[in-house]
Amino acid sequence: SAKMVRICCLGAGYVGGPTMAVIALKCPSIEVVVVDISTARISAWNSDQLPIYEPGLDDVVKQCRGRNLFFSSDVEKHISEADIIFVSVNTPTKTRGLGAGKAADLTYWESAARTIADVAKSDKIVVEKSTVPVKTAEAIEKILKHNSKGIKFEILSNPEFLAEGTAINDLFNPDRVLLGGRETPEGQKAVQALKDVYAHWVPVDRIITTNLWSAELSKLAANAFLAQRISSVNAMSALCEATGADVTEVAYAVGRDSRIGPRFLNASVGFGGSCFQKDILNLVYICECNGLPEVAHYWKQVIKVNDYQKSRFVNRVVSSMFNTVSGKKIAVLGFAFKKDTGDTRETPAIDVCKGLLGDKAAISIYDPQVTEDQIQRDLAMNKFDWDHPIHLQPMSPTAVKKQVTVTWDAYEATKGAHGVCILTEWDEFKVLDYQRIYDNMEKPAFVFDGRNIVDAEKLRKIGFIQGLAMVVREEKACSLSVLRLCCTVAMDSQAHELEVD
Ligand code: NAD
Ligand code: UDX
Repeated sequence: SAKMVRICCLGAGYVGGPTMAVIALKCPSIEVVVVDISTARISAWNSDQLPIYEPGLDDVVKQCRGRNLFFSSDVEKHISEADIIFVSVNTPTKTRGLGAGKAADLTYWESAARTIADVAKSDKIVVEKSTVPVKTAEAIEKILKHNSKGIKFEILSNPEFLAEGTAINDLFNPDRVLLGGRETPEGQKAVQALKDVYAHWVPVDRIITTNLWSAELSKLAANAFLAQRISSVNAMSALCEATGADVTEVAYAVGRDSRIGPRFLNASVGFGGSCFQKDILNLVYICECNGLPEVAHYWKQVIKVNDYQKSRFVNRVVSSMFNTVSGKKIAVLGFAFKKDTGDTRETPAIDVCKGLLGDKAAISIYDPQVTEDQIQRDLAMNKFDWDHPIHLQPMSPTAVKKQVTVTWDAYEATKGAHGVCILTEWDEFKVLDYQRIYDNMEKPAFVFDGRNIVDAEKLRKIGFIQGLAMVVREEKACSLSVLRLCCTVAMDSQAHELEVD
């Protein structure tokens, strides 16, 4: 038929916004409206200052906003007009009640489904874009069918695999698009309709179709496998430090095995982001509910190693700095959970900063995309403790304000600092004038590279001295293998006395 396809997406967040913008760009014949219950978010999408930072996003939005891409707060109108409804609302970890700390909180999803059921006046394809527990489609179907007045709903699972910071490129060139649907003629027809949308730009051999449960579970499985690689290499980094192996060399040697591959093997201060921890906890809970405690335990360990890595980093900082950071200024470079995003959800920087604050450090933070307000909120927030090894006193917002300053410049943040912690791998941190930073720091000046991005050799050449004597004496092979955690310690003569002592 010549009728224009209309898409409505519930949820204008990190997934809904970029995904719909790319659909609109690639499918000029389709009208796409993104709606959200947050009016502030919708106005930001309609302004010059988009609510999220994502390289390439501005350009895509500029090309199609007002043409076939719209952002609106009128949820009901656009649901009722759409043929295909994507649901891309948040599905965080439940913080109370049954399954608290592990199960996915489907409140937003359920409320979205009820709105759809209430306002729909014609048949709809409802697409699960949010990451949900396997079997969610069954529950959603019940809500929709129970409330519908003879209207047919077909549910599809179309999990999103984009990563923040590379969202636009991931959406332009996806490794695969996954579509799950009912194995009925109506279900298959709906799958085909959604396939036609993606086929505008995705090669058909990259569009995988499965049953609903496989699609739902594959998303949790993919995130679990990815996070597992990071926890595996981070666990190796601890062993490297104990033995004198260099984790970068080990990761390279291991990754050269074509069965293993080189990607996602960077040792780090730990993984963050809104997805990995949430989705693995969700998987753990599903395993428990299915009477599979051993499997649950296996996946839980991936998160435990991640928490261990963050506390190990804090311990390393404190022990290297003569067992106390009390009253010392420590500069934190990077607060976002990865480069090229301003997102701080579950960023390892939160736990690391809280650990340092617990030891009474004065911290000065610089991140090119994270606002002071966000940082203060993150550090004052009392996070739900799923099973946390880092036991921390909750801090009041005023206490946080006293101990934490946020700057808009790396040089300002590091001025007068005793140590620098690099917690996000922003490209600009690779090309800082480390001579200038060194000159303005207290001595001995420490750098703790939680992302393995600084060129330790270069830093030594411009004046930083590798703290072999001091650090290695205490902890044998701290040098470059410590996720290069520590690694560059600069000393002036005064400090040298201290060290020889
Ligand atoms: P987000 O918090 O950035 O966005 C969700 C949006 O949904 C919010 O703006 C919220 O106001 C809105 N919303 C909530 N209830 C609503 C309702 N009933 N009607 C309309 N809007 C509503 O979350 P996100 O990062 O975009 O993630 C969304 C989903 O996608 C989650 O399930 C997540 O697990 C999954 N996912 C996220 C990523 C990622 O990298 N962020 C990647 C893949 C999948
Ligand atoms: C992840 C998945 O990659 C994506 O497919 C899914 O759709 C959503 O969750 P995201 O959380 O945006 O994406 O970022 P990702 O690039 O996966 O990084 C997650 C965390 O792991 C970051 O904190 C990152 O710094 C860390 N990481 C990644 C490492 O520590 N080492 C690595 O080798 C790779």
